[in-house]
Amino acid sequence: MASSAQKQLPMLFLVYVLLLLIFMQELPHPASPNSSPLMAVALSSSQTRDEEVKALLKWKSKLNEESRSILSSWNGSDTCSWQGLGCDPLGSVINLNLSSSALRGMLHDLDLSSLPNLVTLKLANNSLFGDIPSSIGNLSKLAYLDLSQNLLYGDIPTQLRSLRSLKVLDLSSNNITGSVPSSIGSLSNLTGLYLQNNNISGFIPREVGMLNSLNDLLWLFNNDLIGSIPIEIGMLVSLSELDLSANYLNGSIPPTLGNLSNILKSEQRITMFIWSKRLNVVKGVAYALCYMHCECSPPIVHRDISSKNILLDEEYEAHVSDFGTAKVLQPCSSNWTSFAGTFGYAAPELAYTMEVNEKCDVYSFGMVTLEVIMGRHPGDLISSLASTSPSSRRHSTDSWPLKEVLDQRIPYPKGYVLGEVAVVIKMALSCISPKPEHRPSMQQVSRAISAHSPIMLTASEDIKLEELVDPTCFTY
Ligand SMILES: *[C@@H]1O[C@H](CO)[C@@H](O)[C@H](O)[C@H]1NC(C)=O
Ligand SMILES: *[C@@H]1O[C@H](CO)[C@@H](O)[C@H](O)[C@H]1NC(C)=O
Ligand SMILES: *[C@@H]1O[C@H](CO)[C@@H](O)[C@H](O)[C@H]1NC(C)=O
Ligand SMILES: *[C@@H]1O[C@H](CO)[C@@H](O)[C@H](O)[C@H]1NC(C)=O
Ligand SMILES: *[C@@H]1O[C@H](CO)[C@@H](O)[C@H](O)[C@H]1NC(C)=O
Ligand SMILES: *[C@@H]1O[C@H](CO)[C@@H](O)[C@H](O)[C@H]1NC(C)=O
Ligand SMILES: *[C@@H]1O[C@H](CO)[C@@H](O)[C@H](O)[C@H]1NC(C)=O
Ligand SMILES: *[C@@H]1O[C@H](CO)[C@@H](O)[C@H](O)[C@H]1NC(C)=O
Ligand SMILES: *[C@@H]1O[C@H](CO)[C@@H](O)[C@H](O)[C@H]1NC(C)=O
Ligand SMILES: *[C@@H]1O[C@H](CO)[C@@H](O)[C@H](O)[C@H]1NC(C)=O
Repeated sequence: MASSAQKQLPMLFLVYVLLLLIFMQELPHPASPNSSPLMAVALSSSQTRDEEVKALLKWKSKLNEESRSILSSWNGSDTCSWQGLGCDPLGSVINLNLSSSALRGMLHDLDLSSLPNLVTLKLANNSLFGDIPSSIGNLSKLAYLDLSQNLLYGDIPTQLRSLRSLKVLDLSSNNITGSVPSSIGSLSNLTGLYLQNNNISGFIPREVGMLNSLNDLLWLFNNDLIGSIPIEIGMLVSLSELDLSANYLNGSIPPTLGNLSNILKSEQRITMFIWSKRLNVVKGVAYALCYMHCECSPPIVHRDISSKNILLDEEYEAHVSDFGTAKVLQPCSSNWTSFAGTFGYAAPELAYTMEVNEKCDVYSFGMVTLEVIMGRHPGDLISSLASTSPSSRRHSTDSWPLKEVLDQRIPYPKGYVLGEVAVVIKMALSCISPKPEHRPSMQQVSRAISAHSPIMLTASEDIKLEELVDPTCFTY
């Protein structure tokens, strides 16, 4: 008996250990964030609060002695009662307002990534020096950033582009150098931009014109900016004040003739809008889109190309404006949540898909191009082309002689220009193919229309538009 019990003992022990292991697996792990959402929130917010306390006290310890005495209330761990700080209901710091507080030290010593819930950061009129830390990009909820009247130097960090909630950006009266990063165009909610009284150099990026929430101030005066003023700035129509003085800028705010839609309707302007100028406009728009699709990383899809969003300067050069609906394509996602295009220019697939890609701009480009050539919206032409099958099109009674399709308010083109117009029409027709995959890319379009290989035609020929349609274009 004894010997058999002795043999069973290790066996029992093994079973016990196994059961214990299984049991422990089933037990909720106390620190597991999956165990209870409530517990996870409480846990993470208390972690956040700890980190906030640590970061703020560390910064205090690095400021000069006078500053530390000014911040005497910064002790213990109840940040909500500290001078200049404001908290959310969970006790996390959302406001840091210590403007005009005679603080002296490095801004860089404040670890901003430990203050992830900040909405307001105001440290104006102190003696903070050093550069603006790149950890500023972690403040995804930040709406007001005021670091003006300090001794900050270095570049404007490109990480600012992550501050999508930012409404006011004030870095004025510092010693900031470098150029205005073009990524500033991502700050679509910005209403005021103050960069005056610095040593900012380089060109004003065109992307500043993308900031169409800017309705308050755009102050860039007293810097070292050079070059010409981008025409897009002239389109910030709701801006109440613009001051670019005391720079090395060339020329004035470029005057615009207006938007393409209006110019095509203006009997007074239309006679000046001759074929060579129209071809230039088409090329200009193609280059702009090509740039946004191919040169920008990640690519930008405009989503609302229409004749109303294309501006012409006094030289009849095209400028694409209104990036209000533009979408930066994330590498693995092409999703959007709401319809953003203009009726009559938006690609047909947008009626049934949530996906947006470059091909919807290509479609709109095709529509705008036909509008430039025809002098009016091509709606009736498109529905006629779409309703006839490729095989019957050749014998269709719905025929479109080129002489009737082209804008008849200016003389019919001749020779080389006629050939180029034909190339542009052929390209535009392939762009409005109902199937996105049949449309060319903007790069292909751009190459084709600048290749200087016109279709050989003579003005006396009775050419029909149908002859320029690629057979695969209008198949469904
Ligand atoms: C914090 O500062 C207050 C006011 O200066 C002081 O009364 C208090 O004793 C300090 N508390 C700690 C924990 O140092
Ligand atoms: C921030 O602090 C300054 C100076 O102490 C004060 O004048 C201003 O009203 C404060 N702003 C906010 C929003 O608390
Ligand atoms: C700057 O702060 C000082 C106190 O440090 C104050 O006396 C002065 O009025 C402030 N200047 C401005 C322009 O707010
Ligand atoms: C701050 O942002 C950087 C880069 O965007 C990221 O790598 C880092 O993990 C962030 N830190 C925190 C604490 O979120
Ligand atoms: C800016 O830097 C220059 C030279 O480095 C210095 O003379 C000047 O006082 C600085 N200005 C401010 C506002 O910090
Ligand atoms: C931008 O502003 C709009 C309107 O105020 C708001 O609905 C949206 O959430 C803001 N975007 C961000 C990223 O904060
Ligand atoms: C900034 O510009 C001022 C004069 O405009 C000049 O005195 C100062 O040296 C410049 N600072 C730097 C860092 O270039
Ligand atoms: C002004 O514009 C002209 C022509 O565009 C250019 O050659 C010149 O370099 C510009 N000057 C400055 C200071 O940017
Ligand atoms: C186009 O220009 C005309 C006049 O120049 C203006 O009335 C109209 O609002 C503009 N349209 C858009 C969408 O900007
Ligand atoms: C796009 O969104 C839909 C629905 O919201 C989702 O099912 C799909 O996976 C998303 N696609 C991408 C590429 O993110």
